[in-house]
Amino acid sequence: YPLKALNSFGVSISADLFTKLVSTSDVDQLIQWRKDNPDTSCLLIGGGSNMLFRDDFSGLAVSVALSGRALTSEDDDAYYISAAAGENWHEFVRWTIDQGYAGLENLSLIPGTVGAAPMQNIGAYGVELGDRLERLSAVDLITGERRVFSNEDCEFAYRDSFFKRQPADSWLIESVTFRLAKQPEWVVAYAGVDAALDGQEPSARLISDVIIALRQSKLPDPKVIGNAGSFFKNPIMGTAEWEALKVLFPNLPGYPQKDGSDTVKTSAGWLIDQCEWKAFRDKDAGIYEKHALVLVNHGEASGAEIWALAERVIGSVSSKFGIVLEAEPRVIA
Ligand code: EPU
Repeated sequence: YPLKALNSFGVSISADLFTKLVSTSDVDQLIQWRKDNPDTSCLLIGGGSNMLFRDDFSGLAVSVALSGRALTSEDDDAYYISAAAGENWHEFVRWTIDQGYAGLENLSLIPGTVGAAPMQNIGAYGVELGDRLERLSAVDLITGERRVFSNEDCEFAYRDSFFKRQPADSWLIESVTFRLAKQPEWVVAYAGVDAALDGQEPSARLISDVIIALRQSKLPDPKVIGNAGSFFKNPIMGTAEWEALKVLFPNLPGYPQKDGSDTVKTSAGWLIDQCEWKAFRDKDAGIYEKHALVLVNHGEASGAEIWALAERVIGSVSSKFGIVLEAEPRVIA
């Protein structure tokens, strides 16, 4: 079964078996199928926008297409909005804005689905999913147990969560509920956002529009050129280590972390740029010309070729700065 259309890198790979989940009973059937076929591996795919397939997948590929979104409750301070896992993330964000709910605007135009979003705690322009999530429902695909996770249970951290640390494809997130404050606090301090607002009164729609324009100006549209957004995580290091490096590289960016951990996050994009990778191309595997953190498929690159380029980038950043970059998307070997 071809998966080219189900991965945003547009890599031509296939899976032995394929199924699509559109209802809870499909999920229950999948659980039963796994009990009956314990030796066949299973891969959950949301938008396929945060995966790199290095090879064909031998097993069952599962497209999560559960749909639905609604206001589920409200209290004096907030609206609680739920969405099923298969909803497209950006369409969901715009729908909340159209309904008059604010809080997700900074996360506009992030590719992928609602169900995949908590997995790596998507974040952009000063807001992370974990800042807005109230709870989620997930099912353990091995035991069939359904469980509600509070925000705390999800153990969110930078591009990380409880789910990301579990054996891959063991939990299926079925739906997510967001807490959207009735008195929103706008997050506009991020470079570029404030400038684009240019003194205008913020609103969810305006911030969303500004962020869409910002993203379009530096990130490639996966429909036009294959990619998975940022390919590497921004490295987080001890403050002392960062200061020592800053002596050698005075322009090294640094964002002190606000979690009390005495660490600094630096910019992987900057490190890669210093190694002069921007716009590099080897056959169809390349680095995007406007953003060094984004690996692209100019057409017919294989997953193995893209991964080989990623390894070259990791090697050069490591020899120049002594920092070993970590891939952000899931790499399926
Ligand atoms: N930079 C360069 N050269 C480049 C790119 C970036 O020098 O080619 C430096 C600049 O100093 C720039 C800084 O890196 O000011 C930060 O760049 P940017 O604002 O584009 O953000 P980022 O850290 O590269 C992160 C997220 C993005 C998110 C943006 C905006 C990660 C891994 N990436 O990128 O998320 O959209 O911030 O908040 O945390 C994604 O995860 O797929 C993604 C696109």
